[in-house]
Amino acid sequence: MDNSIAQIREQFPALKQKIRERNLVYLDSAATSLKPQVVIDRISKFYSLETANVHRGAHFLADAATGEFEKARETVRQFINADSIEEVIFTRGTTDGINLVAASYGSFLNEGDEIVITELEHHSNTVAWQLLAERKKCVLKYIEVLPSGEIDLNSVNQQITAKTKIVAFSGCSNILGTLTPIETIVKKAKQVGAVTLLDAAQYVTQKKVDVKALGVDFLVFSSHKLFGPFGFGVLYGRKDLLNAMPVYQSGGSMISTVDYQHTTFNHLPFKFEAGTPHIEGAIGTATAIDFFNQYKIENIFEHEQKLMNLALTELKQIEDIKIFGTAQNKAAIISFVMKGVHHSDIGQILDQQGIAVRVGHHCTQPLLKKFDLTGTVRASISIYNNEDDIHQFVEAVKKAKRMLL
Ligand SMILES: Cc1ncc(COP(=O)(O)O)c(C=O)c1O
Repeated sequence: MDNSIAQIREQFPALKQKIRERNLVYLDSAATSLKPQVVIDRISKFYSLETANVHRGAHFLADAATGEFEKARETVRQFINADSIEEVIFTRGTTDGINLVAASYGSFLNEGDEIVITELEHHSNTVAWQLLAERKKCVLKYIEVLPSGEIDLNSVNQQITAKTKIVAFSGCSNILGTLTPIETIVKKAKQVGAVTLLDAAQYVTQKKVDVKALGVDFLVFSSHKLFGPFGFGVLYGRKDLLNAMPVYQSGGSMISTVDYQHTTFNHLPFKFEAGTPHIEGAIGTATAIDFFNQYKIENIFEHEQKLMNLALTELKQIEDIKIFGTAQNKAAIISFVMKGVHHSDIGQILDQQGIAVRVGHHCTQPLLKKFDLTGTVRASISIYNNEDDIHQFVEAVKKAKRMLL
């Protein structure tokens, strides 16, 4: 991998620019990944030459756009190893996919049923279930997180019970990096007959996603964290569940027949895709997947782990820095605070040096409250980062300390 990093960096135009007269050090990939030239070019080509709406045209461009759009669905199907393209629903992103399942599958829940999530979820995998629990008078329960950021396995057994109907959890924490014990949680959920939803927003760039091997019932992710466009995502759902579920949003494409009083609905996957879809989003996502698939995911993971360990070794030598998220099994996401300093001030000093990190609550307010924090500085590492990035980042943190303390 080492030799190819320079070649990978070449493919990301954002890395060729100066930010505040310095080379950009981009350590915010957990928020969104940079986009490779192939993805930018593919979307640009669609807008320049191929623009047409899908599924309803009777002309060359409309047919071609439909072909590319549905080819993208097949690319996604292969990427996640779903049985059928009917199980691949195009959405606006992770958040949209979770809302779809909460609204549609959630309609099957009754008063007293239990929904289980974990303490480390992103707000998008917390609030949708809170709202469902309120609507249906269900009980929302949390699998606990240990001080290391690992999932408490005893809590998995305690919280998932015969009353549990849905277990929705993240495969990788966006703030602590924790890779969660997916197999253990899925196994326990199956024992009690609950369905599982895996939030793979961060996980999808860390480990091979194989919905059959993982055994999950639903899985969601966003394209923009996978080198693809914004506003586009995927919901995988087991076909029998999706077929049984009521429609979510209504509009064009999701119907079969409409009369003045009554509507019948389209088959999967269109039943859940109301209105004109994000066509270039789908096509750009397929290109992003092809880009990502050029590399072995294990090698990418190893590369990122090496950089994370280098950063952690150096950060640990700086007095007054406290790192959150020390799980054995974690993605290259580093969250830290500096004693006596507000995280925003550190972010600002790093930014002045062309270093992009994220500061704040990272959409995980309940977890931060548990750890008695209001925010952290988060540096997240991706395929295009190199050792130089890490050295510059650590030097900038040292400088921030000199300036602020
Ligand atoms: C773990 C996790 N879940 C859900 C989301 C929400 O993703 P989106 O805003 O793309 O819908 C994010 C985004 O940061 C995330 O990291």
